[in-house]
Amino acid sequence: MSPRDNILPHAALVPRHVAVVMDGNGRWARQRFMPRFFGHKAGVDALVRAVNAFADRGVQVLSVFAFSSENWKRPDEEVSGLMSLVLVAVSKYLTKLARDGVRIRIVGDRSAVSDKLRQAWEQAEAMTANNTRITLAVAFNYGGRWDVVQAARRCVADGLEPERIDERALSERMALAFAPDPDLFIRTGGEMRISNFLLWQSAYAEFVFTDCLWPDFGEREIDAALAAFAQRDRRFGAIRPPEVAMAGSA
Ligand code: FPP
Repeated sequence: MSPRDNILPHAALVPRHVAVVMDGNGRWARQRFMPRFFGHKAGVDALVRAVNAFADRGVQVLSVFAFSSENWKRPDEEVSGLMSLVLVAVSKYLTKLARDGVRIRIVGDRSAVSDKLRQAWEQAEAMTANNTRITLAVAFNYGGRWDVVQAARRCVADGLEPERIDERALSERMALAFAPDPDLFIRTGGEMRISNFLLWQSAYAEFVFTDCLWPDFGEREIDAALAAFAQRDRRFGAIRPPEVAMAGSA
């Protein structure tokens, strides 16, 4: 993939890269009179189902917002629950995901997480490094603004003169530089905002917001989101060529 591919989004019926804000775990648990952690656990199960379903439909990269830079503001008990859930998820699902051809990449600021967690991530990345069916990018301790700042700092650290700091220079240093920009951005749980996920990379993404709570987000909802995407008219800031417009209206 050339750096230009990484900057320009992709016009196709199936998105290459789908980004997801997996919202609604807490409410899903509350509806069942269970603690929030129960919802996050169900969220991990839903994620493992979703990565396979997206791969079956031809999606090459699925990026998910597992823990935002802002999630530290949640009660200590929930923060430590989410951290330990990662360890549980890795031990429960890593072998399966590796066997299913999923390549796992972790994006975000690793400096603030425990050694144990860092080692679990490293194990997940190493064990799946040669897989090619789909890449699952797990954003953990990630924020879109953090990403822009760390990319800018890397430009400076790399000795770039100000006039050489352009979109490409920043894109190449973003946490998700290994992937094309998201074509489709989905948020479950009824809220309609980006919440600091992939701010830079989603410049031309198509958005789908659904009331479905994340643990319930299954194949039917995935197909609905992909069908909505396939109907979008993506122009990327250009005008629509007349012949395409006529074919589309036929
Ligand atoms: C938002 O739901 C969800 C999160 C903050 C965490 C999402 C994390 C997972 C699904 C687990 C992922 C873990 C791994 C190992 C990849 P919410 O708590 O804000 O729900 P609410 O809006 O209903 O309260």
